[in-house]
Amino acid sequence: MSKIKIHDKVFESYLSEQEIDAAISRVADQINHKYRGKQPVFLGVLNGCFYFAADLLKKIDVECEISFVKVASYQGTQSTGNVRQLLGLDQKLKGRHVIILEDIVDTGNTIESVVDTLSNMGAESISIATLLYKEEMYEKDIPIDYIALSIKSDFVVGYGLDYDGFGRNLNEIYVLSEVQNIKDYDNMLNIVLFGPPGAGKGTQAAKLKEKFNLVHLSTGDILREEIKQDTPLGQEAKGFMDKGELVPDEVVINMIGNCLNQNKGAAGFIFDGFPRTTEQARALDNLLQQHKTEIDLMLSLEVDDEELVDRIIQRGRESGREDDKNESVIYNRILTYNKKTAPLKTYFGDQGKYNSIDGVGTIEEIFDRLVETINR
Ligand code: IMP
Ligand code: MG
Repeated sequence: MSKIKIHDKVFESYLSEQEIDAAISRVADQINHKYRGKQPVFLGVLNGCFYFAADLLKKIDVECEISFVKVASYQGTQSTGNVRQLLGLDQKLKGRHVIILEDIVDTGNTIESVVDTLSNMGAESISIATLLYKEEMYEKDIPIDYIALSIKSDFVVGYGLDYDGFGRNLNEIYVLSEVQNIKDYDNMLNIVLFGPPGAGKGTQAAKLKEKFNLVHLSTGDILREEIKQDTPLGQEAKGFMDKGELVPDEVVINMIGNCLNQNKGAAGFIFDGFPRTTEQARALDNLLQQHKTEIDLMLSLEVDDEELVDRIIQRGRESGREDDKNESVIYNRILTYNKKTAPLKTYFGDQGKYNSIDGVGTIEEIFDRLVETINR
């Protein structure tokens, strides 16, 4: 679903160009049928009606005149309340069939005052055609003769309608989104990269970072760096790590918060090695929300266990890394990974963000799969 931002608000697609066009065609058919030979005067109410008026009138094939007015509102005296005035009416209406063209009828206050003003100008008939009609909001008795689309009560923009001056040019109609908080719709690309030990995560992260100009955020690397630089955070983390304990979520989240602050304006982040639990994933979501962004997708590199063990043993032979040599230790690491990440697959899966990537193949083949998934 496509989303847009106008001022401080997020709107999402609601009525497509095709739906609007079909609805306008229906209204045009009705009017053509009813007004043949009657030479009606169409009176568009600006500003909002310009798209509707143009598209409707292109489909009108009876002889007619077209004119526009503007409704000006100003605060009257206490007894009169909000006064509406019609500006720019230069069309003689005496004896004519008038069809008022509105973008939207909400409470009906506007249309009522327009009809009131016109009603003593001697028109033969006055009827109303509106693009949108908020049925549940309408409070008046005046019948709305032609309704292209009946909509719910939510605020809409586009196709002539504005939100605080903007959005009128949009060629379809958007509705205020229920989800306002999350993303700034700023094209940030935030990826959570997953993969068991030996899946080639490091290699792929480096390539993704390069291709999409991302900040690679590896919690392990940051922790080691903080410790090396003996920062307060490093000192705190070291205490846990020295005891062989996991660094608490809070500490890690703080660390990621610092990293987001230091990289304001980044094209996006690759989160590597974090989150590891559902709790952490939730905390990360909250943190990103504060930064007006969100995780776009989780990429999970999948390699079957036997292949992983072979790869790790190979790596152990080459690097001499102790934890890469012992087969049962390796199996245990894989087992732990599978057990720990399973809930995260569910967590991201529920958000529609989980993507399983076949992690067997050449580096380029796997990279292509990742890129294809990101671009999808
Ligand atoms: P009414 O006087 O309550 O019927 O409201 C009509 C006027 O309110 C329209 O001409 C618009 O200017 C404005 N309006 C009502 N609902 C919306 C909406 O959802 N989007 C944009 N403008 C609206
Ligand atoms: Mg209006």
